[in-house]
Amino acid sequence: MKRSIGILTSGGDAPGMNAAIRAVARSALARDFDVYGIYDGYLGLYEGNFFKMNKGSVSDILFKGGTILGTARFPQFTDPEVQDKAIEQMRKVGMDSLVVIGGDGTYRGAGDLCKKGISCIGIPSTIDNDCPGTDYTIGFETALNTIVEAVDKLRDTSASHHRCSVVEVMGNHCGDLALYAGICCGAEIAITPEVGFSEEEVIARLQHFDAIKKHRHALVIVSEKLTDVEKLAEVISQKTSFSGRATVLGHIQRGGSPVPYDRLLASRMGDYAIEVLGNGGSNFCIGIRDDKMIATPIAQALIQPKNFDQNLYDMFERLA
Ligand code: F6P
Repeated sequence: MKRSIGILTSGGDAPGMNAAIRAVARSALARDFDVYGIYDGYLGLYEGNFFKMNKGSVSDILFKGGTILGTARFPQFTDPEVQDKAIEQMRKVGMDSLVVIGGDGTYRGAGDLCKKGISCIGIPSTIDNDCPGTDYTIGFETALNTIVEAVDKLRDTSASHHRCSVVEVMGNHCGDLALYAGICCGAEIAITPEVGFSEEEVIARLQHFDAIKKHRHALVIVSEKLTDVEKLAEVISQKTSFSGRATVLGHIQRGGSPVPYDRLLASRMGDYAIEVLGNGGSNFCIGIRDDKMIATPIAQALIQPKNFDQNLYDMFERLA
């Protein structure tokens, strides 16, 4: 029987989602599957808001930020009746499988649908790099690039004024963006949820850096949801010789054209998702480990903690 798959993006958008949509659609069409694009994630599935795709539907999107399908956070999808209605919408057009692109919340929805007989494959895409079952998520590298570009600019002005820039980055309880940005930007301090921090220690370290190295400027990268960066900058102004200035990079980190790494990762993951599905696989999430594509059962991935790279953090501390 001819396979018929739906593609949706869910949760926060990430650069590279479009490249993943393209790869899934083209790889599926090459196997002669029917392909549907579903608007606005699980909400669109529930509402039956989807359209049949052809090769041209995904032309000229590889390099675009955001997601052409739109995305939504739809917490009501945990309700079994809402899931049944979504399955009904799929059955109306003969859709038997789904490829869902997003974070762990997106995987949970897919896991529930699998229990009800729908074949689902998850592709990790979020700037936070907090998905289980993979070393990297689609969008992380581009967001990191955006942060590095922004901080390089901040450094110019900060160094001219003997200031300390306190920069808040996203991550949603995952410190990877803060740690990687800390390394790439040569920060004095990177504050992550995994390692934690104390204000006294931050002040003591900045005083130390100033006394020992006579720094013209200092940089503190802070993972979001840990502290008020405006207040931290004020305390730095009061207790060190630096004048503190806070910058919250915010949603700018989610936008922009995906860097080549994310385009490549999205293309590989999208194509591999269809390979797994085509071979009869279901209830898996795709990942990259040691540069190889892997597929992990969603239920198993969801109970794995996302490992924080303590060795990398220790290296950051040595180099700071
Ligand atoms: O998960 C991606 C992310 O950008 C997080 O880094 C951030 O905490 C959250 O989404 C913001 O969500 P929203 O766009 O709904 O405000």
